[in-house]
Amino acid sequence: MWQFCRYYTMNSGRILCIGLAALDIVNTCERYPEEDEDFRANFQRWQTGGNACNTCTVLNELGVDCEFFGSMSYGLQADFICKHMEERKLRYKYVCHTNCGTPTSSVILSLRTGSRTIIHARNNLPELKVEDFEKLNLSDYRWIHFEGRRNEEAIVKMIEIIEKFNSMKSCTNQVKVSVELERPRESLLQLLQKGDVVFISKDFARFRGFSSSSATVQSLHSQLKSGAIAICAWGEEGADGVGPDGEVKHSDAYPPENVTDSLGAGDTFIAGAIYSFCKRLPLQDAMNFACFLAGVKCGIQGYDGLVKEALKHNRWPDLFSVQG
Ligand code: ADP
Ligand code: FRU
Repeated sequence: MWQFCRYYTMNSGRILCIGLAALDIVNTCERYPEEDEDFRANFQRWQTGGNACNTCTVLNELGVDCEFFGSMSYGLQADFICKHMEERKLRYKYVCHTNCGTPTSSVILSLRTGSRTIIHARNNLPELKVEDFEKLNLSDYRWIHFEGRRNEEAIVKMIEIIEKFNSMKSCTNQVKVSVELERPRESLLQLLQKGDVVFISKDFARFRGFSSSSATVQSLHSQLKSGAIAICAWGEEGADGVGPDGEVKHSDAYPPENVTDSLGAGDTFIAGAIYSFCKRLPLQDAMNFACFLAGVKCGIQGYDGLVKEALKHNRWPDLFSVQG
């Protein structure tokens, strides 16, 4: 019954994604360059990046009422990010900082191997604080997704605020929480117990000594809060997940004809999974859909036109039309 409360009844509020909005300078290259080489990209583009912003961008593409919340600097790069969110009609809230730069990633996409190499500069943008989070009206949201960043302790407190809010609400009006553990940092472990859904990246899993997604979820399952789900995506090998019954479910990846841009595949996967849970899909289907969507994303540049491209495959026509 608890399980039913968590995943099968849900209020109709927005999905909020909390974390980073960054500038991605993406260089599409024939191959990965040699060290010290003077190398030419086939083309270069600027796009919005950052895990939470990417996940929100994909949810928005999927037609979900969603919102981004994070820190922002000011100046040319920040203006670019805001302008693009506005062009996409993506709702966003931010706390502005004037004494720092905008987090920026220089990305090399190799058409030969499909790899995406990221050089990320944080540029000292401060993380969100609990006081910032306290200004939100939690009744506006049905789901809040946290990208696990350096403010882990603040994130724990933010989730405790949600837990307190939920304790005063009926099942249908509670806010679901998901967290992403991506960067290889021990301190992120405290978030494991805090999500209804916990997304674990392969980088984090490897850092914890695991060599597959199934071993990761199997082992971390006992550290989740009661009734929670853990999902670990693992590039071309797809993903594994485990729910309250402890049974590990697997989805293969859905490789596109050509991998042209795997930047943000993990963020797209998370959007696909959250979207599926909001549509009341069970874990197995949610993982299949998330892998499918991430695979489609790898076959196109950026995120624009993702749903149009996905619909061409005619695999999940119902899911794209059912209202959550
Ligand atoms: P990240 O972007 O965080 O490194 P992953 O590489 O683990 O994320 O990929 C997340 C998901 O994206 C995978 O589970 C898979 O479904 C899909 N994916 C990633 N790379 C490919 C690929 N080359 N071909 C098909 N699907 C992929
Ligand atoms: C992709 C991404 C990029 C961003 C970088 C930050 O997952 O979010 O958009 O620049 O990672 O590490």
